[in-house]
Amino acid sequence: MENNILLIGFMGAGKTTVSRELTKLTGMEEIDMDAYIVEKEGMSINDMFAQHGEEYFRKKETECLIEIMQSKNRIVSCGGGVVVKDENVEHMKAGGTIVLLTATPETTLERVKNSTDRPILNGNMNVEFITELMNKRKDRYLAVADVIVVTDNKSVSEICAEIMDKISKK
Ligand code: S3P
Repeated sequence: MENNILLIGFMGAGKTTVSRELTKLTGMEEIDMDAYIVEKEGMSINDMFAQHGEEYFRKKETECLIEIMQSKNRIVSCGGGVVVKDENVEHMKAGGTIVLLTATPETTLERVKNSTDRPILNGNMNVEFITELMNKRKDRYLAVADVIVVTDNKSVSEICAEIMDKISKK
């Protein structure tokens, strides 16, 4: 495979989990965008939001995306909000095949409810909030995606098989 595989989707869509499994299956290297930002900044995402605000995080996110897109043949697990900026989408489109993972708000809540490392969801851990933010971003995710895989009620290996199948038919 020549190009990067970029996993996008809302928080809790399974990008990190799927990326790990795809790495095993393909032998490709993986990069987790959030982990990359945290390492580069030497600070958690919660602390970045708390100390510098979301705008700062979004700026760093774009800088890191540009760096990450210099590499080839990687599985890139993207932060859930990265598609919102046009500039980011341009870099992503040029960098590889974009795979959208989707999940219902209910499935999403189940997957994220015990985690406290997503500042946007802290204090907003409910289906209503998730539905509203997901609806705001939905058209964007769909417009950007080359391949779409629904993840509800599927195992990680089923999801990965579907991704590989759909990419091979592109
Ligand atoms: C965010 C998603 C998070 C992380 C940050 C903001 C978002 O990534 O980048 O907390 O705006 O959707 P995950 O989608 O990997 O949780």
